[in-house]
Amino acid sequence: LPGAVPVLAVDGPTASGKGTLASQLAQRLGYHLLDSGALYRATALAAQEAGVPLDDGEAVAAVAATMALRFDGDTVWLAGQDITDPLRLESTGGLASKVSAHPPVRQALHALQLSFRRLPGLVADGRDMGTVVFPDAALKVFLTASAEERAQRRHKQLLSRGVEASIDSLCADLRARDDRDQNRSVAPLKPAKDAHLLDNSELSIEDSVAQVLSWWQPGTPRQ
Ligand code: DC
Repeated sequence: LPGAVPVLAVDGPTASGKGTLASQLAQRLGYHLLDSGALYRATALAAQEAGVPLDDGEAVAAVAATMALRFDGDTVWLAGQDITDPLRLESTGGLASKVSAHPPVRQALHALQLSFRRLPGLVADGRDMGTVVFPDAALKVFLTASAEERAQRRHKQLLSRGVEASIDSLCADLRARDDRDQNRSVAPLKPAKDAHLLDNSELSIEDSVAQVLSWWQPGTPRQ
């Protein structure tokens, strides 16, 4: 019975700190982690590799349904190739946002996402975890942070990897991606009716983790 496996859904826009928050929550709770964005990113890379045009929803969906994707700790393998680094590129995120707007692609990745729901529980990170994929999640968190704040964070993250980028162009990219993710016809980015909103603009990661854990287990002492 899937309902017996608790799910904690973390949704929100790009660079909102979702990934970090979700992985820390999974670690603290000893739960499995679904990085659903990675599935859309891998789909975009696999389609490119296969020479499939990214605007052909049916063809990209066929790639998504058959790609040999494997998660091994922090390493991601696609058809025997280590795609960990290309998966995280900004450009890959942009391509993922494009392929993810096709309904057949979302359909093709649905069952794969459900398969991550295993005991003792799952933390699911994405755009539609609480609205579409796990509507019965025990807790739904919707993260927000201003585009400026997110651009600053992304800038810092890129610099730490030695990548130069202007804050203005990062901010413009984030807004374009938000716009596409929020306005697509299927599973647009929006908070579930029963989601807890968390604006983490002014919060440290530890504060955000503590806040979500206090919603998850009322009475948990804050550190
Ligand atoms: O979270 P991320 O940046 O890795 O996601 C990349 C893109 O994939 C994002 O811009 C939209 C899409 N996506 C989605 O449509 N649904 C999800 N559950 C996760 C990601």
